[in-house]
Amino acid sequence: MADPLDVLVICGSLRKGSYNAALARALLALAPPGLKLRTAPSFAKIPIYNFDDQNSTGFPPDAAAWADAVRSADAIIIVSPEYNWSIPGGLKNAIDWASRMKDQPFKDKPVVLQSCAGGILGGSRMQYHLRMSLTALDAVLFGRPEVIVTFAAQKFDEKTLELKDPTAIDLIKQQLAGFETFARRFLGK
Ligand SMILES: Cc1cc2nc3c(=O)[nH]c(=O)nc-3n(C[C@H](O)[C@H](O)[C@H](O)COP(=O)(O)O)c2cc1C
Repeated sequence: MADPLDVLVICGSLRKGSYNAALARALLALAPPGLKLRTAPSFAKIPIYNFDDQNSTGFPPDAAAWADAVRSADAIIIVSPEYNWSIPGGLKNAIDWASRMKDQPFKDKPVVLQSCAGGILGGSRMQYHLRMSLTALDAVLFGRPEVIVTFAAQKFDEKTLELKDPTAIDLIKQQLAGFETFARRFLGK
């Protein structure tokens, strides 16, 4: 059997009770054995991107650590909410820093997207925008099935935040199995 792929999981929410963080945790039990998941370092303390700062003091250590984690992984799962119909600023800021680095970490990186949100669109607009930004960085985006968890409050246990929706669970298993095939084909691993 082939070695498992090293897969970095990035969560776009910093909130303690985050549904997206809960979904990211659930992936450990839902991913096929061929995907070995690890959690990305936090982007919470990365300063807001400023070219002048990059020019004078270089890349902030937290931005460099976040980018190193992306660069060293075989593939990436991003689980994120949608903020104001788009990518949460903290996540976009981390991507913006990474995009200016030598040996740009998203280049030729297989990426799959997931989102949870309180409403009917489940973060889908964030996914479209992230797809565009990451395509600009030469990442390779997995297509379907899409994992879009709508009305999140009804899909997770109120107390434990465990994902309890069988349809979502089934879809996630299908998506990650498809993503493994896609990533292996692309990486030749
Ligand atoms: C600043 C902000 C903007 C938001 N904008 C959207 C939005 O555009 N679309 C949406 O479906 N939900 C939006 N929401 C609601 C989030 O879907 C909801 O708070 C969700 O639980 C956030 O994800 P988390 O639980 O992982 O933190 C927004 C929430 C915040 C805090």
